[in-house]
Amino acid sequence: MAQQRENDMSETIGVFEIEDRTFPPPDSFVSQANASDRALYEEAEQDYEAFWARQARELLTWSKDFDTTLEWDLPFAKWFVGGELNITANCLDRHVDAGKGDKVAYHWEGEPGDTRAITYAELLTDVKKFANVLKSLGLEKGDRAAIYMPMIPELPVAMLACARIGVAHSVIFGGFSAEAIVDRCEDAEARVIVTADGGYRKGAAAPLKPTVDEALKTGASSVEHVVVVNRCDLGPDMTSDRDLWWHELMAGASDDCPAEPMDAEQLLYLLYTSGTTAKPKGIMHTTGGYLTQVAFTHKYVFDLKPDTDIYWCAADIGWVTGHSYIVYGPLANGCTSVMYEGTPDTPAQDRLWDIVERYEVTQLYTAPTAIRMFMKWGAQEPAKHDLSSLRVLGTVGEPINPEAWMWYHEHIGGGRTPIVDTWWQTETGGHMISPLPGVTTTKPGSACRPIPGVFAELVDDEGNPVEVGGGYLTITRPWPSMLRGIWGDPDRYRDTYWSRFEGRYFAGDGAKLDEDGYLWLLGRVDDVMNISGHRISTTEVESALVDHSAVAEAAVVGGIDEITGQAIIGYVILRGGNEPSQELGDEIREHVGVKLGKIARPKAVIIVPDLPKTRSGKIMRRLLRDVADGRELGDTTTLADPGVVAEIANRAAEEDDD
Ligand code: WTA
Repeated sequence: MAQQRENDMSETIGVFEIEDRTFPPPDSFVSQANASDRALYEEAEQDYEAFWARQARELLTWSKDFDTTLEWDLPFAKWFVGGELNITANCLDRHVDAGKGDKVAYHWEGEPGDTRAITYAELLTDVKKFANVLKSLGLEKGDRAAIYMPMIPELPVAMLACARIGVAHSVIFGGFSAEAIVDRCEDAEARVIVTADGGYRKGAAAPLKPTVDEALKTGASSVEHVVVVNRCDLGPDMTSDRDLWWHELMAGASDDCPAEPMDAEQLLYLLYTSGTTAKPKGIMHTTGGYLTQVAFTHKYVFDLKPDTDIYWCAADIGWVTGHSYIVYGPLANGCTSVMYEGTPDTPAQDRLWDIVERYEVTQLYTAPTAIRMFMKWGAQEPAKHDLSSLRVLGTVGEPINPEAWMWYHEHIGGGRTPIVDTWWQTETGGHMISPLPGVTTTKPGSACRPIPGVFAELVDDEGNPVEVGGGYLTITRPWPSMLRGIWGDPDRYRDTYWSRFEGRYFAGDGAKLDEDGYLWLLGRVDDVMNISGHRISTTEVESALVDHSAVAEAAVVGGIDEITGQAIIGYVILRGGNEPSQELGDEIREHVGVKLGKIARPKAVIIVPDLPKTRSGKIMRRLLRDVADGRELGDTTTLADPGVVAEIANRAAEEDDD
């Protein structure tokens, strides 16, 4: 049987080794775990609405109880209808009222080594003040504010201040370009951008404010004000009347701002994510259901003990992982978190392990790409530090190859700590498929099974359930933290997620079910790439490539990369009058970096005379992917001109030699 499984899985994990051992939770862990048996699963299977209603009432504090748990008008869901709550009252006030005002909410560490310990009472005061600042700028419940910031404490303060007064935030990852800011601000009609002069990365101050200025020169006319945190003393240009300093506004702001009860379905935030077209989608999350599921999963998936744990999610708040598991989940549960501004190799490659040791971190949550990078740097780095405080390790964002899982288990977890491989998406808001560390026997490389209250099924092309083998991952019932739609585009919401398989949410991922009912995620089956756990659409990069004046046509594929999982490879055909050269290739790569942001800059741009197309004119991406990965080419009989592929393979090989 083991042999059989190896064969089944080999294609899914590419160049990586298989690990066939299984890992039951250690007895010492089970005896203290928040969940140590199947009770939650059984309760949820019997009546999942009642299960989530119980979680909502037990984990959260409501100003007004809800009267209907779920209104489901496929594909539109409303959870906890009639209920009212303020999300910041749940994340802050109730902990302070319970006498925990002096408890540290965030141990924040700047990249240069400066630190701040921010208590719940201090965080609440800052949130109230900044909420008043937003009000003084004319923002009202129902408005949208954009946030473009480094990983500094003012970032969660800005998000929570919005939430306190019912303004939806749209956090834009600090690595995105001016154009990305324009697109997102225009789509959301954001009235304010909160930013900073810059943030520290790789040992230097990286400016942010000039990117906002550039954006506002070209568009985003809805933006009336820019609030700027002075993080690095970079002395940015300040446009009078429009641009305002955070510290000046805060100095004059009152800290009296009662938490107003919000409807359970009040829009909490928009987070833009790549789809299969060039236009990013504004994913909508609301209040009561979202907070219920993130608080539940944060408590049970990480086995959180708020009185004693020091929890650290090492993601960036610019992505959904940071929204749910740095800000809302941990604060709702009243725990102490670590928040780190910079890169993991500054000043040295043991920075993360140094932080784990100094703060005695108990849970660490990071991405497989980061783990593969740590593997490359070597086990001597974590070995320099005492990591014995760790008791749960988590991964998110991409499939983890068993070899990286084992390395994490041995060199970070000391062979003791359970690993939770959490599958979820911007759209799902919170964890969906994951082990519970005191219950689930894990298999390296598998996200195991849906959490209690979530129902997933693999289906084949026709939508028939798959018992064992490969298929499309679908979710069969609504869940509290599900997206409520795509901002401004309900039709796209229905088409994108609910039309491929009738009555089911289709996530865009392929997966395999093994004979024990464990799910193995295989990656995206659509035109979305996953680079270091970040979603980037091939179409988006293709349109940035053809935007360069020398490019006539472009095709983009995700090739295999040992560290980042996938790497962006762009094939381009030049317009007449342009000669192929290394310089031109580099210039085109940079152009994409400027258009979309550095994370979307292709690893390689290969200039080709033509692209392999079917006779109906469709570019055959599969062939280009095979070329990028140096694989044997499959069937090419449907190609219009088979000679093209050989020519492209030659060019790609030359590129590799450089
Ligand atoms: C992928 C990140 C395998 C998947 C929270 C999904 C994963 C996309 C896992 C969502 C995992 C996320 N195993 N693949 N544990 N977690 N993915 O929206 O392809 O940035 O559709 O949300 O990441 O990426 P997003």
